Amino acid sequence: MRAAFYERQGTAKDVLMVRELPDPEPEAGEVRVKVVASGINPSDIKTRTGFGGKAMPFPRIVPHQDGAGVIDAVGPGVLASRVGERVWIYMAQWGRAQGTAAEFVVVPSVQAVKLADNVSFEIGASLGVPAMTAHRCLFADGDLRGKRVLVQGGAGAVGNAAILLAKWAGAWVAATVSREEQAEVARAAGADFVVNRHEEDVAQTVRSATGGHGVDRIVDVDISANIDVAVACLARDGVVTAYSTETPQAMLTIPFFPALLGGFSFRFVYVYSMPQEAMGQASEEVSACAASGAYAPRIAKTYALDELVEAHQFQESGTAVGKIIVRIQNP
Ligand SMILES: NC(=O)c1ccc[n+]([C@@H]2O[C@H](COP(=O)([O-])OP(=O)(O)OC[C@H]3O[C@@H](n4cnc5c(N)ncnc54)[C@H](OP(=O)(O)O)[C@@H]3O)[C@@H](O)[C@H]2O)c1
Repeated sequence: MRAAFYERQGTAKDVLMVRELPDPEPEAGEVRVKVVASGINPSDIKTRTGFGGKAMPFPRIVPHQDGAGVIDAVGPGVLASRVGERVWIYMAQWGRAQGTAAEFVVVPSVQAVKLADNVSFEIGASLGVPAMTAHRCLFADGDLRGKRVLVQGGAGAVGNAAILLAKWAGAWVAATVSREEQAEVARAAGADFVVNRHEEDVAQTVRSATGGHGVDRIVDVDISANIDVAVACLARDGVVTAYSTETPQAMLTIPFFPALLGGFSFRFVYVYSMPQEAMGQASEEVSACAASGAYAPRIAKTYALDELVEAHQFQESGTAVGKIIVRIQNP
């Protein structure tokens, strides 16, 4: 098969190559997927560059956790009827050397989830890390119908997924952005209220947009920077869920008294260590949301496998608004 891979950490241009590798074979409990589209996430870049001092987990890595395609072979213990099924894939490269930037990938059967016929492979490849993370952030503390949610960074991949899933679940959603192009993406995802975080006082405008009530949940991309906003616009018993902050060394200082009086909760989500039950619920509900037609994220750009260096450079530039997809082959 043709695959992209690297054998040492470094810049995309220095270490990524596209060559022939042997086709992987599914073992017990696994399926092999003919990959049609592969999705890039910041964590794929972090693994390639050794973010936070992390070493190469394997001598050769085929990157990317997310993808979509068609099951073409199954290992012992997996129903043969799965062959031919359209699927989306999550966490393909987690604890494994080979991810989805290749014509074929092997994953545990449960990580290849049925993709409805009406959902494109590009959308399928956009689900994985962003949608699973957003789902856990939104639903770990219960149902959202009638709740008010603030999404910090509503045009980011996870932030956009959070808007899409929260609207699908019946919440009122506010989102922060940093420029007009991002505002359009947040609105297109269904955000009811969009705030430019550089131009407006986020806590004050969100509070007044909720008639003074504040928001019940916050999904936050940079909690160290945004903690004061969170505490200032949470409703009583509100929950802030953080999935990222700018640097691995960042500290988080929580103003104790307002948090105490508000009865606030602080939750942290790392998609790779979600409880198994939450993974199952998330993959089911993300699939249902996509099948309903409610999951339509912005695709920033689609590349060919041979253009993977450019695709990684675009992801790293921080200028992409929307998902970056790599088209691998036809189904
Ligand atoms: N914990 C987990 O399991 C998990 C899962 C997925 C991703 N992540 C991490 O989460 C981060 C975002 O991932 P992503 O795929 O969504 O990236 P992305 O598509 O690049 O989106 C990041 C968004 O956050 C916005 N942003 C940056 N600083 C902000 C701030 N202080 N307040 C509000 N918005 C802010 C950015 O906008 P501007 O900079 O233009 O304002 C951008 O729209 C990455 O570091 C990623 O590794 C963690």
